[in-house]
Amino acid sequence: MEPRGRSCPLSYRYRPEALARPAQLEAETLYVVGGLYGNPGALRAILERADREPGGAPAIVCNGDFHWLDVGLEDFRAISEAVLARHATKGNVEAELAADSDAGCGCAYPDYVTDEVVDRSNQIMTRLRATARQFPDLVRRLGDLPRYLTAAVGGHRIGIVHGDPESLAGWRLALEAMEPGDPRVRRQVGWRGQATTADELLDWFGRAEVSVLASTHTGLPYAQAVPDGPRRRLVINNGAAGLPNFSGASHGVITRLSGDPRPPADSLYGIAIGGLRCDALPVRFDLDEWTARFLAQWPPGSPGHRSYYHRITGGTQLRLEQAARGGVRLTAGRW
Ligand SMILES: [Fe+2]
Repeated sequence: MEPRGRSCPLSYRYRPEALARPAQLEAETLYVVGGLYGNPGALRAILERADREPGGAPAIVCNGDFHWLDVGLEDFRAISEAVLARHATKGNVEAELAADSDAGCGCAYPDYVTDEVVDRSNQIMTRLRATARQFPDLVRRLGDLPRYLTAAVGGHRIGIVHGDPESLAGWRLALEAMEPGDPRVRRQVGWRGQATTADELLDWFGRAEVSVLASTHTGLPYAQAVPDGPRRRLVINNGAAGLPNFSGASHGVITRLSGDPRPPADSLYGIAIGGLRCDALPVRFDLDEWTARFLAQWPPGSPGHRSYYHRITGGTQLRLEQAARGGVRLTAGRW
């Protein structure tokens, strides 16, 4: 058996064909919000952004890992209730909170992620479990959330997953796994393993019968168009809604999909796929407030601090232009 935090529980596995069913949700505009990681200010900023949608309120799907750093009781309760009031799929964090057995954080970390990172994630999960035990009803409802969801936006079918089309905690849609490989990203994360090719992506798109695959889980955001005969399909991973994602920038990222062809004014990068507008949007939460909240829960020396303080206060090494891949255009300049 693999060590805690490395394993992928059997209950995480599914097949891409599971997405090939009637859409459970139809919307003109849809936000996919992955990886809030317990940041209530990010959730507030997303809801405020939704209020400003010119075409009316968008549908929102939270696709997992809403919880992580929110070991404070009030934040945990408030985020649970807000997410459960909307469309949601679970992430490995919620799956593990609700599980009887302890697989650690359930991240299924690949072997290029260091043991120290995995150990700290397991320690964070142990503390989060203690918080979650105060809310058994909420945790049961989080555990009952589906693992994936099929949506229809502007007549296009969208497959929403947490990890990849085969596993809740899969890493095959991580930026570092995607071909053509980005040598800088691969070097920075120490990537090694099985690359994800265009042929595999087209196989998944075909079996899932979707035009877009929207994921999160693996930490770094990107969008990549994939040629498919005369048309294109799209993989879009929002990285983290509740953490900084880029070098020199402190905002989170969500995915916006819309039947309205006009690019949103705050788009970071995006593309139109057969009339469906697909963009990454910034989540402009109050960084000082989030940092203070984080430090109150994860002081220096704690596993949360060691793993996340640098990212929260300094961002990542990823440059925005590295996230716009395969025909996706940078639309930024406003941040
Ligand atoms: Fe995850």
